[in-house]
Amino acid sequence: MPEMMRVVRYNVTGPPSVLVIEEHPVPQPGEGQVLIKVHAAGVNPTDTNQRRGERNVVPPATPGSDVSGIVAALGPGVAEFQVGDAVFGSARGSYAEYAVAAVDGLAPKPDTLSFDEAASVPMGARTAWGGIFTTADLQPGQRLLVTGASGGVGIYAVQLGHWKGAEVIGTTSAANAELVRSLGADTVIDYNATPTELAAEDVDVVFETVSYETQERAWQALKPGGIMIGITHQPSEETLPPEGFRFGRPGHTPGAMRLIADLFEQGLLRTIIRKVLPLEQAAQAHELSETHHGAGRIVLRVSS
Ligand SMILES: NC(=O)c1ccc[n+]([C@@H]2O[C@H](COP(=O)([O-])OP(=O)(O)OC[C@H]3O[C@@H](n4cnc5c(N)ncnc54)[C@H](OP(=O)(O)O)[C@@H]3O)[C@@H](O)[C@H]2O)c1
Repeated sequence: MPEMMRVVRYNVTGPPSVLVIEEHPVPQPGEGQVLIKVHAAGVNPTDTNQRRGERNVVPPATPGSDVSGIVAALGPGVAEFQVGDAVFGSARGSYAEYAVAAVDGLAPKPDTLSFDEAASVPMGARTAWGGIFTTADLQPGQRLLVTGASGGVGIYAVQLGHWKGAEVIGTTSAANAELVRSLGADTVIDYNATPTELAAEDVDVVFETVSYETQERAWQALKPGGIMIGITHQPSEETLPPEGFRFGRPGHTPGAMRLIADLFEQGLLRTIIRKVLPLEQAAQAHELSETHHGAGRIVLRVSS
């Protein structure tokens, strides 16, 4: 095991150019944790929000939570994995050659996924599962509206809703309409042509991934008693859910990564990669992510 590793760091918050490569000691896994030799890291909007200083993370810090790689060392008390296992899931500071992860946020990497593909999955798939199943309890035959259906989270909400047997309506631009249809959406609405509030009616569950403004509009698509899962904004004091409607956040789902891995193994889920860039181009990856357009997840390849 090397003593030092290359990591992406930001020492101040700011634009993507604050991201630099530095050398740091390889971390040690603690109780219930493993050390992962990172193959790839997913690039999430959460990472860019943190870098801009919009989250409770004080620099210096290493971005990243989505990871794929090989278990390189076990912390005390770990029985779930062995050194050499290929895994994917969550590891704080995954834009690095090594990262430490709690075992309950990991699962064996499905053989059907490459390391790049596996790193594109965790936060998107877990958030979609936690929203539409754990919190909203989506049922077969119900109507699900997914806004941002081509995004890193939306692609899983569409697929999981379709797998459950719901009627799925997705919003995206014309450029990504065919893709969203191929993921299982029964109806695809071009957000440039049709405002969100007119995209659907009598919806049981809205899974809203775009913006505060879209969330406000999407209330009109819900049927009374329906639920809005919002992953960008909490409704403000002035804009509480209309009477008879509910608002929820994605719920924590124990073992989520293993449930999701099973669906990949069975060929029931697929992932979409927007672009793969080397670790050294983390700043370019953040610039691309901050356009908020394009289908699927950006991935940083750390080693091959
Ligand atoms: N646990 C949580 O609460 C949680 C977890 C993960 C993410 N998030 C948040 O959820 C949001 C989405 O995350 P993400 O990873 O899915 O982002 P993303 O991958 O960057 O989403 C980009 C997608 O949004 C689509 N889009 C942009 N404007 C749209 C509009 N007006 N209507 C419909 N679709 C639109 C784009 O489609 P086109 O290219 O066709 O324009 C693109 O496919 C972010 O704000 C993120 O911070 C929250």
